[in-house]
Amino acid sequence: MYRILLIFLATLVCSVAEANTQQTVNEICKQTIDIKFCNGILAKATSPSLKDLLNVTVTEAQRISDDTYFFISTILLNAGNQRPVVQKCVDAYAVLNSSFTDALSLFNSGRYAEIITLMVNISSEDVICETDFNVPGYNINPMIEKNRETKVFVAMEKIIGHMVSS
Ligand SMILES: *[C@@H]1O[C@H](CO)[C@@H](O)[C@H](O)[C@H]1NC(C)=O
Ligand SMILES: *[C@@H]1O[C@H](CO)[C@@H](O)[C@H](O)[C@H]1NC(C)=O
Ligand SMILES: *[C@@H]1O[C@H](CO)[C@@H](O)[C@H](O)[C@H]1NC(C)=O
Repeated sequence: MYRILLIFLATLVCSVAEANTQQTVNEICKQTIDIKFCNGILAKATSPSLKDLLNVTVTEAQRISDDTYFFISTILLNAGNQRPVVQKCVDAYAVLNSSFTDALSLFNSGRYAEIITLMVNISSEDVICETDFNVPGYNINPMIEKNRETKVFVAMEKIIGHMVSS
């Protein structure tokens, strides 16, 4: 009887913790423009602590901006007469890759509040590069999605950075 009660209590505690985590994640993600993408990133966290949610966010933001910067740089090589507009996207992602890399080092040094300043400092011009150019092999310019994901990462780092440092 006692053991059953213990199991029951343990299950209850676990499901309450899980519900709280999901509530925190929902709270964060509904403040971004892509709830599904945000949820997918936070689902990769190793624990539901805010610090681990921030960890997975800064880690994934850096990884994806690095990939995107590499990708758009290769598009520039054969951009032809689209070169000026592609170059602007390359420049934007050079800045973003460096900002997200800085955010990752700030996280690793426990300087969470500075991540917020860094993200606030990213201008919308950096986040939204013009996408009216063709990318060979794609019907829809993949940079449209990358720009949206970047905006979500900037928002997530601001929101979770604020939660961790307050
Ligand atoms: C962040 O996450 C990585 C990978 O899960 C882990 O190795 C690292 O220790 C974490 N850093 C902190 C400060 O929690
Ligand atoms: C993004 O930034 C990191 C850190 O500075 C750098 O190592 C990496 O090469 C950059 N990515 C690209 C595609 O240049
Ligand atoms: C914010 O942006 C300004 C102007 O671009 C720059 O001088 C400053 O160093 C930036 N601050 C941070 C914390 O990135």
